Amino acid sequence: MQKALRPGNIALNLRDILVQGRKLGFMERTQFFSDWLTNLKSHNLDGLHLRIVTSPTDRKVRVRDHEGREQDMLMFGSNSYLGLGTHPYVKESIIKALEDYGSGVGGPPLLNGYTQLHRDLELRLAAYEGTEDAVLYGSGYSANVGLMSAIPTKQDVILYDANSHASFSDGVGLGGHTAISFRHNDIQDLEQRLEAALDIEGDRFVGVEGVYSMDGDVAPLNEIVALCRKYNSILVLDDAHGTGITGPGGSGTPSAFDVHGEVDIVLGTFSKAFGVSGGFVACSKAVADYLRMFSRAYVFSASLPPMVVAAVHAGLDLLESDPEIHASLMANVRYLSAGLKKLGFDASDKTAVIPLPVPLNMNIRAAAHAFHERGIFVNHLEYPAVPVSRQRFRISVMATHTKDDLDQLLTAVAQVWIEFAPPAGDGLMTPEPTPETLRVD
Ligand SMILES: Cc1ncc(COP(=O)(O)O)c(C=O)c1O
Repeated sequence: MQKALRPGNIALNLRDILVQGRKLGFMERTQFFSDWLTNLKSHNLDGLHLRIVTSPTDRKVRVRDHEGREQDMLMFGSNSYLGLGTHPYVKESIIKALEDYGSGVGGPPLLNGYTQLHRDLELRLAAYEGTEDAVLYGSGYSANVGLMSAIPTKQDVILYDANSHASFSDGVGLGGHTAISFRHNDIQDLEQRLEAALDIEGDRFVGVEGVYSMDGDVAPLNEIVALCRKYNSILVLDDAHGTGITGPGGSGTPSAFDVHGEVDIVLGTFSKAFGVSGGFVACSKAVADYLRMFSRAYVFSASLPPMVVAAVHAGLDLLESDPEIHASLMANVRYLSAGLKKLGFDASDKTAVIPLPVPLNMNIRAAAHAFHERGIFVNHLEYPAVPVSRQRFRISVMATHTKDDLDQLLTAVAQVWIEFAPPAGDGLMTPEPTPETLRVD
């Protein structure tokens, strides 16, 4: 049954609003949405989105909520896994770049040129991934969109993991390409689809992630590389959450699976391990040359500020010179995972992303507020961004977390679960189970 489209109806979700909101004109629709959000806030059921952080982002942050109250919180929602955002060497490098090059290049590289820092970073990232060249983008999102809209053509087919990031599918959608998803991390399903695509006229592309951002699970890259060889297909790996994290010393997911340099195209971001923003595509020289002329997200977008480029250089320097940073991260991941296992969660210790699946009888927004009240900053992923059965909290571990931070998190998780996930049938709000996601066709 359709839920009443009233701003006071807190049972509405984003999907209801997108679908039902189509009946409304633009001004009415946006006003309706804004009123609905205000109402959620007054019930303490807003998603805690857009909290104001009034300190540097590290293991501890100072946060101002919607009522203007400030509190110190332990940060378990930052993808700056190595904690480099406040590292003195990174800060010094940023200041030096500002002095040497000013705040920005003032336009796209094709028109305005770029600095030696930019070119050096391209070559350094290429060496990191074992490719001939690399191309820098303004964000990981635009790297995916720029790559996937530019590289395939209409006669090609793209087979991609069902859990791929929105930026991958947005790129594919922008290019109007034929794309078919295969079941998440299901090698047999991928092989069947590759076989079925054998007699197409064009190329076969396969898109996977090194570390899946929602669940922190990894792709079996060695098997995928072998399949791509067998079926003469081009492998595109988005290693956003693996770059600097997985593999020996943070050398990336291809290294973890012993296929370093064997992946055709590797994409990464600077917004995770490197704690800034920006993205890159590492590939052959030919593909890089092509992208620099035909990838619209590259051609029509300004170069990254030299300060950001310097921060990434500094991060790579630190990965090489101070292995303790990466080792601390992995020790923290193991410690937290062991603690969560004791609480009954099936937590892996391979990556810095640890999901806590939310039971169907848990009101995820109320539970999110409970974490916030306890001074724990953790992200929740709720329907319709994910199916109801896959709602979760996502913990991001940092190298700078102390054992005491992790213990405080474990205590909060145990308390929130006792309070908000009692046995079913207790009258707590149970969201409707539905497999649909935010994508509204
Ligand atoms: C797998 C994956 N690819 C790409 C992106 C986009 O990266 P950015 O936030 O740096 O634009 C993300 C961001 O969360 C991601 O998880």
